[in-house]
Amino acid sequence: MPCTVIVGAFWGDEGKGKIVSYLALKDKLDICVRTGSVNAAHTVWMEGKRYALHMVPAAFVYEKCRLLIGVGANVHVAKFLEEVEATNVKNRIAIDSQASIIEEKHSIQDKTSAHLKGLGTTGWGIGPAIEERVRRTAKLAKDIPELQPYLTEVSKEVNEAIDAGEKVLLEGTQGLMLSLFHGTYPYVTGRDTSASAICSEAGVGPTKVDDVMIVFKAFMTRVGAGPLPGELAKEEAIKRGWFETAAGTGRDRRSAPFNFELAKKAVVINGATQATVTKLDVLYPECKGAGTFEDLSKDAKQFIKEIERQTKIPVVLIGTGPEALDIIDRRK
Ligand code: IMP
Ligand code: MG
Repeated sequence: MPCTVIVGAFWGDEGKGKIVSYLALKDKLDICVRTGSVNAAHTVWMEGKRYALHMVPAAFVYEKCRLLIGVGANVHVAKFLEEVEATNVKNRIAIDSQASIIEEKHSIQDKTSAHLKGLGTTGWGIGPAIEERVRRTAKLAKDIPELQPYLTEVSKEVNEAIDAGEKVLLEGTQGLMLSLFHGTYPYVTGRDTSASAICSEAGVGPTKVDDVMIVFKAFMTRVGAGPLPGELAKEEAIKRGWFETAAGTGRDRRSAPFNFELAKKAVVINGATQATVTKLDVLYPECKGAGTFEDLSKDAKQFIKEIERQTKIPVVLIGTGPEALDIIDRRK
């Protein structure tokens, strides 16, 4: 803080929603900017209720936080309106006028185009919507009647807030290994997912960022096609309690043990200054609900220390349960 970027380290689904919701409540965020699009579902558990957010920033849980959707985002109008209703944030959310729109036709193209076959996309139409934007034929938020009450200039709001010393968080989506540039091409999403790209999508220059917080899950998962080093058979994943299904699409997530080489690469390319590790309690069940680092088992502490040793950045937040506040906070 004051300006922090949150990024995923692996293939998305690291638990960015949980981390963002924790920071919103704990640090009393002034502004949270969501980037990316509907392909990402950020899960937030709040007072026993689960939200899988495709558009609304995960910081909605703190009722004073201003919620913005950046100029680089692709806005799904129906999903946006549905989530604004479900989270009751109508009076504090806005979209950049020049964010582009993702439409039903993009979803159909996503599911039927020969060149996308076999990639295992989410089917929301991300690639085709981005192609349309590059062709300079996309609809923008300012062209949509239902979005008129929500329009703003996100970069202006955010830069003014940063200059005023307010607490701003840029909420990245997916993970570095799904980046169009740095990931496992062609098994990637349609955009760069690194911290620099998140800043660009929000309209914040690199000199304005104080911290890049990278989110690791204690093990790795991947949905869709493409390489996953150390991949476990589904039966083994179930046995270990690592088997998950996707929050957005309901598909099976493939899983693998934590990979230090990929973690190091993700830290370097994102310029990460701080790390968080989610679902430590899934890897080490005896750590469920632990509130301090000292409460962790010997093996769990060793694992965290090994991440710090290899990546050379501190692990500041550790997830020990699903709720927003199930976190060990090691920040000063
Ligand atoms: P697309 O982003 O829908 O084009 O999908 C391209 C690849 O990225 C596929 O392997 C998807 O499963 C994956 N992907 C996209 N968004 C997410 C996400 O939020 N979490 C996990 N995987 C994702
Ligand atoms: Mg997700």
